Amino acid sequence: MKKIIKALSNEKQEIPPIWLMRQAGRYLPEYKATRKKAGSFLNLCYNIKLATEVTLQPIKRFDFDAAILFADILLLPQALGMDLWFEEGEGPKLNGLNSGYDINQLKEIDFIHEKLNTVYQIVTEIKSELPKEKVLIGFAGAPWTVATYMINGKGSKDHKESKLYMIENKMTFDKLIEIITNATIEYLSKQIEAGAEVVKLFDSWAGSLNNQDFIDYCLEPAKKIAKSLKKRHPKIKFISFPRASGANYLHFSKYSFFDCIAVDNNLPRKWIRENLQKDICIQGNLDPFSLVYGGDYLKKECSEILNILNNNGFIFNLGHGITPDADPKNVELMIKYIRG
Ligand code: CP3
Repeated sequence: MKKIIKALSNEKQEIPPIWLMRQAGRYLPEYKATRKKAGSFLNLCYNIKLATEVTLQPIKRFDFDAAILFADILLLPQALGMDLWFEEGEGPKLNGLNSGYDINQLKEIDFIHEKLNTVYQIVTEIKSELPKEKVLIGFAGAPWTVATYMINGKGSKDHKESKLYMIENKMTFDKLIEIITNATIEYLSKQIEAGAEVVKLFDSWAGSLNNQDFIDYCLEPAKKIAKSLKKRHPKIKFISFPRASGANYLHFSKYSFFDCIAVDNNLPRKWIRENLQKDICIQGNLDPFSLVYGGDYLKKECSEILNILNNNGFIFNLGHGITPDADPKNVELMIKYIRG
């Protein structure tokens, strides 16, 4: 059995499987060269040959145990009809609800595949080129995280614009979450049909939701998505990542349709071990800074993660995406240390 699937089946392994969030990215010179060839980030996302190439670059260089589809969580709102563009150094922009976009303009869910069909072709192409022992991970953004961009039209530090929208336009907000939830089920289902063996739901901004809002807009949509996918594709493995949600992570350890909880680097490792890692695979949680700094600090962190978290199912990963200033030599050092 593939190492990642073993871990996701909650089996302990002497040497855990390894992959990194954002492993295909700007810290790699070969990524920068391919992105330049593509002309822009979005061109790269929709170019079958080049998106496949960048997905496989970190596998070739580091021999990671999994490849993650090269795409972005914001391709879904774009497929639903919103304009999406990336401004150099500023991140993503959309013509969001707060700048006058009417939710009724969004397309019927059946039509999202017109735009996303290329993504499914990329999944199939990666799968055909990926070594047999490696796993292909598909992904989508979770409804709340995607909604924050569809409302505010850009990133935000504290998501107060989206929280205000949630309170003041509750009916539209609920409708938006429902649309994204249902579209995400169809989007991930097609990625699975195209060849993804594992899917991951990125709720990067889950930490801005509290109490009942966390239940209604983070936990419940994730449950609906995981349950629907498992019903359609019983063999699929599902990873949830309600990032920075602290003790709210506990909610995710109660449901068997979540095969794995990805943990951020703010959660204490002993707390994770004692409270979350019972009958469920854990993925994480190296601080991305460790790959910028390297050295003995990196080794100490890797060693602590192995000592505390390599029980039952465990996948070695970061607590958030690798940063552009990470040194590929440190990634090598990390892998040598974990596998050695
Ligand atoms: O992990 C991977 O290697 C797969 C590819 C992937 C990307 N984005 C490529 C990307 C994945 C899984 C994502 C998810 C994503 N996108 C999230 C959730 C995960 C997280 O990191 O919290 C979010 C919030 C987004 C939205 C997004 N896309 C932002 C905020 C940005 C700009 C930030 C930045 O680093 O510039 C992007 C751009 C983006 N997505 C890049 C990559 C490789 C950088 C684009 C470039 O090459 O310039």
